[in-house]
Amino acid sequence: MPLVPKHIKKLPPYKFVKPISEIQHELGLERVIKLDLNENPLGPSPNVVRAAKKSLKNCHRYPDSGAFELRSRLAERFNLKISNVILGIGSEGVMSNIMRTFLGPDDELIGAQNSFIGFRILAKASGVRKNWIPMKNYQYDLQAIADAINEYTKIIYLANPDNPTGSYFSIDEFDAFMKKVPDRVLVILDEAYFEYVRERSDYPDSTHYRYDNLITLRTFSKAYGMAGFRVGYGLSHENLINNLLKIKLLFEPSAPAQAGAVAALDDEDYLKISLVSNNKGRKLLEETFQELGLQYLPSVTNFITLVFKNEKSAAEFTRNMLHRGVILRHLVKWGLPECVRITIGAPEENEFFIEQLSDMSLTSS
Ligand SMILES: Cc1ncc(COP(=O)(O)O)c(C=O)c1O
Repeated sequence: MPLVPKHIKKLPPYKFVKPISEIQHELGLERVIKLDLNENPLGPSPNVVRAAKKSLKNCHRYPDSGAFELRSRLAERFNLKISNVILGIGSEGVMSNIMRTFLGPDDELIGAQNSFIGFRILAKASGVRKNWIPMKNYQYDLQAIADAINEYTKIIYLANPDNPTGSYFSIDEFDAFMKKVPDRVLVILDEAYFEYVRERSDYPDSTHYRYDNLITLRTFSKAYGMAGFRVGYGLSHENLINNLLKIKLLFEPSAPAQAGAVAALDDEDYLKISLVSNNKGRKLLEETFQELGLQYLPSVTNFITLVFKNEKSAAEFTRNMLHRGVILRHLVKWGLPECVRITIGAPEENEFFIEQLSDMSLTSS
């Protein structure tokens, strides 16, 4: 009997992102900025840091396994019961628990071909059959996804807004789609970038719906600037949550993460500052791309994806930027080799990126 199952053996080895200090050292650079992981460059609210620090005094104790305070606050916020809320080590942690809870060996998954890579990795690791549906003009093709449902389909994964395209589907599109999904199919609606899009009137905020076969995933990693804490949550019918709770690691997320997240929910002013800064940065980058004639995908999130004429140009751009101290994401593994994703930075990071961009286009013209 081989020690490693075939589907795990087939997975490519994970390539860790190099720490900034190593890149600086290797390339002899004074300044390096990270615009590759869609993090919030402003960091967490000072109230979050204070709350997390305070919780450290009790870190000889295990965290509250029922995460009562954070789950109650989330329930209150979304007009739900605590039994509708589950937490995890990031929303990816909840996603992983969903796969472990609901997938049997004969089940099939459906997702979009170029969407969030974290889900693709979990899907591959699950060993079940996958059906990746091509995108249309870098957007979800919900009709094609609905058409792909068959008797084996167990889970459909949708990210709205999507990473890395930055696009979203509307209320009308979502309503039409859900009509075609049978009750026996679980829809994972990943709303990691929800806060950036919540003001748009045609955005289908899934917490306004009550589908028994839908689970909403959200996170404190993006707009709340808490990626390093690793805390995310799922909202769904209590029947699904109860089954997820059987699988979830008892003490995830950590006590500082729980305390920090409660403080983050209370600090709406700080969240607004983050969102305003992001909107300004996104507008500035879009204007710059237009001036320089660079093609980009319109985004409602904290990142923008540039589209080059081919993989070679995208790779060259990413490499040149790295040598100038800007870390970007070339989207080869997403099946978008012609694309490079850029996270909106803090104001001074955006300026630095734009300086490099202008200098590069001068040098190459
Ligand atoms: C669409 C999407 N979902 C989930 C995640 C993971 O978020 P978390 O840090 O909560 O695990 C990301 C992170 O980039 C994402 O882009």
